[in-house]
Amino acid sequence: MSTLARNQWYVAAYGREIGQELFSRTVCGESILFWRTRPGEVTAVSDRCVHRRFPLSQAPTRLVDDQVVCGYHGFTYGSDGRCVAVPGQARVPRTARLSSYPVVEQDSFVWVWIGEPERADATRIPRAPWLDRAGWTTVSGMEPLAARYGLLVDNLLDLSHETYLHGGYIGTPEVAGTPITTEVDEDAGVVYVSRHMDDADCPPFYARSTGLSGRISRWQDIEYTPPCLYLLHSRIAPVGSVPHPDGSDPDAFHVEVVYAITPETEHSTHDFWAVARDFAPADQEVSDFLAEQNRTVVLQDVAALDVLERVVATDPPGSQELSINIDTGGLAARRMLARLTESPEAAPAAVGSC
Ligand code: FES
Ligand SMILES: [Fe+2]
Repeated sequence: MSTLARNQWYVAAYGREIGQELFSRTVCGESILFWRTRPGEVTAVSDRCVHRRFPLSQAPTRLVDDQVVCGYHGFTYGSDGRCVAVPGQARVPRTARLSSYPVVEQDSFVWVWIGEPERADATRIPRAPWLDRAGWTTVSGMEPLAARYGLLVDNLLDLSHETYLHGGYIGTPEVAGTPITTEVDEDAGVVYVSRHMDDADCPPFYARSTGLSGRISRWQDIEYTPPCLYLLHSRIAPVGSVPHPDGSDPDAFHVEVVYAITPETEHSTHDFWAVARDFAPADQEVSDFLAEQNRTVVLQDVAALDVLERVVATDPPGSQELSINIDTGGLAARRMLARLTESPEAAPAAVGSC
């Protein structure tokens, strides 16, 4: 049985990746062809010609006036996927049509709906508004992961690994040493995991970007909306500083770390990462530093998870794990993902259902 939840929205790309040329990305095992039409809309259709399944993203396939001309025998498609011309005959077969996918461009991401198109509801796409909000500055990227996406979900829901896997970057002893609180909103389909460190070492990631040093108050508030969107609301402030009763928080630095976790196949994942901040907005040095640091941290995860995938894939069936308190959020996420995959009718309304 597939471990992938269909009838869901997934991030397929950043908007900046898609221009007026053919672009292919595989989501949930489906090769999808994207381009930006001349009016500026992103369109998504199957990357397989209906004739002999030639990948339309491959040269010499061309995009001519928003029509795709297959580079093998010339079947020609409009941006809705409908075939408008075939070689050697005037009549275009009625069934000559590429599958098309609902697409929404939002918060700098291109979201694509995998599953039954008539069930796509754009209002259910979770939001990450900081990524293109005025007053915030964002760095971002995407790293390919040769591991199933559930391993990345486990990884991100349990940040105690920062102390060990990311020491010298974002990990300090206090991360693993501080208990978490976990809440699950079954109706909304969201898992929350919080860790508030009121007197912690300032890791290099935050020391160099904020200018704080020594001991800090460091809050990590995770909000995961299965299957795709993970938010880490990170607050860094001098020890003793708390938000004001009116909600303002002038002494703190805020970083929104966003991950979009998109299965490429059953055993590989697109690891989209973004770091948005509300300080030093125009400081290119801070942007370059955070981009380089976060990419390094992501690649540390990628290296570990690629190894873990090989182990998980080859160990005997039924091999045991042992879970402890730090795994509470990850286990809740696994349960939600299992429901989305195996018992789709039980899926929370807010994240859609099959
Ligand atoms: S495979 Fe595309 S036209 Fe033949
Ligand atoms: Fe990590």
